[in-house]
Amino acid sequence: MKRKIAVVGTGYVGLVTGVALSEVGHTVTCVDVDEVKIKRMQEGLSPIFEPGLSELMTKNINEGRLSFTSQHQEAFKSADAIYIAVGTPQKEDGTADLCFIESVAENIASHLKSYAVIVTKSTVPVGTNDYIKSFIGTRTDTPFDVVSNPEFLREGSAVQDTFHGDRIVIGADSPIAGDLIEEINKPFGISVFRTDIRSAEMIKYASNAFLATKISFVNEIANLCDKLDANIDDVAKGMGQDQRIGDKFLNAGIGYGGSCFPKDTNALVQIAGNVEHEFTLLKAVIEVNYKQQRLLVDKAREYFGSLRGKTIAMLGLAFKPNTDDMREAASLVLAEELVLAGATVVGYDPIAMENAKKVLPEAVNYADSALGAIHNADAAFIVTEWKEICSLTTEQFKENLKDAVIFDGRNCFNVETMKSANLDYFSIGRPIVK
Ligand code: UGA
Repeated sequence: MKRKIAVVGTGYVGLVTGVALSEVGHTVTCVDVDEVKIKRMQEGLSPIFEPGLSELMTKNINEGRLSFTSQHQEAFKSADAIYIAVGTPQKEDGTADLCFIESVAENIASHLKSYAVIVTKSTVPVGTNDYIKSFIGTRTDTPFDVVSNPEFLREGSAVQDTFHGDRIVIGADSPIAGDLIEEINKPFGISVFRTDIRSAEMIKYASNAFLATKISFVNEIANLCDKLDANIDDVAKGMGQDQRIGDKFLNAGIGYGGSCFPKDTNALVQIAGNVEHEFTLLKAVIEVNYKQQRLLVDKAREYFGSLRGKTIAMLGLAFKPNTDDMREAASLVLAEELVLAGATVVGYDPIAMENAKKVLPEAVNYADSALGAIHNADAAFIVTEWKEICSLTTEQFKENLKDAVIFDGRNCFNVETMKSANLDYFSIGRPIVK
């Protein structure tokens, strides 16, 4: 059955959810307080770079199933379900800031005129849905239920992940509300896992914390491989063939960034602290990642002695490929450290350049191509594994770099190829080639 759905918040999660729900036939109104953004989206322009998203937006707007408004009242009118997909940014103490959630809850309380299921997509600390329930319940007489339906999509493959996810988690205390959300999701054909609200909230944090742990673990093994002359590529492959370990998320590199892992790991440490539980393991994961993001500067310092006066080409600025998102990107800490060390930084990213200019240190210079960035640089730092960057050839490096030295933070290149081209090539957890 086709349902009427409102989605509040048009960031990565909200916009992709709204577009996907309209694509499978529901009538979706996305609401956001940012009127400029709403105007652009009404014209089919996606505010974020996400492969395939604009095309789907335009299609569903034209077919009359997807609309955008800044008026909550209009979006909530006769909605069967209201999805909350606003941000839960990190406060200074590491806890999740729920001010946007509260403001949506207030709006729902004032405009809800008939029964609706309120679905929380945002990542929220365990117990938040109970809080939302009592917050709205004390402000309206209209009946409603609350369901936790955490999101597992990745930036850069958000559309693909939404249609081909591994599972849909539905945490509900009311079976009717849980059934409605299951029915809404049926067209995706993805297996559904039903549980209670608090467990669903925990599944989201636990999943992100586990994936972050996997990354920090493999990075520590890679750092050991560096010292013991073993090769992390083979080690990860050999480990991953054990199905209990799995071969995904074992790519060693300069750590995890983005809007989720750093924020959610910190939040879970805080959530644990609130109930007097010290999450020692997760604290170590965060600490490993802090060091890992700075690793290329340490390696370059070891190579050059001092970085003063050196020009470093920083290839890739976004926190990962296929996104323009700079949040918690390794490039931020690397640029800062390099500038502090007296180096000149020339940055390049195929998509994230405009966002990068807003957040990287002012002293950073920019090139308009990967080749332009390495031209006359003393060394290249590979920070994000964009296809364009990983397809640079040994000849291009040799012709352009002054010192023919590469510090690869994403293990993009073949060690043997670099060795035979006489390039000084340092990567993460693979034998050093001099
Ligand atoms: C992550 C999760 O993967 C999603 O399931 C989740 O829904 C999302 O957070 C969220 O909570 O909203 P995302 O941050 O978009 O998704 O990106 P990932 O592909 O998970 O990458 C995160 C970081 O880990 C990147 O910096 C990436 O370079 C790094 N990474 C990933 C590694 O260093 N090694 C790996 O093997 C995999």
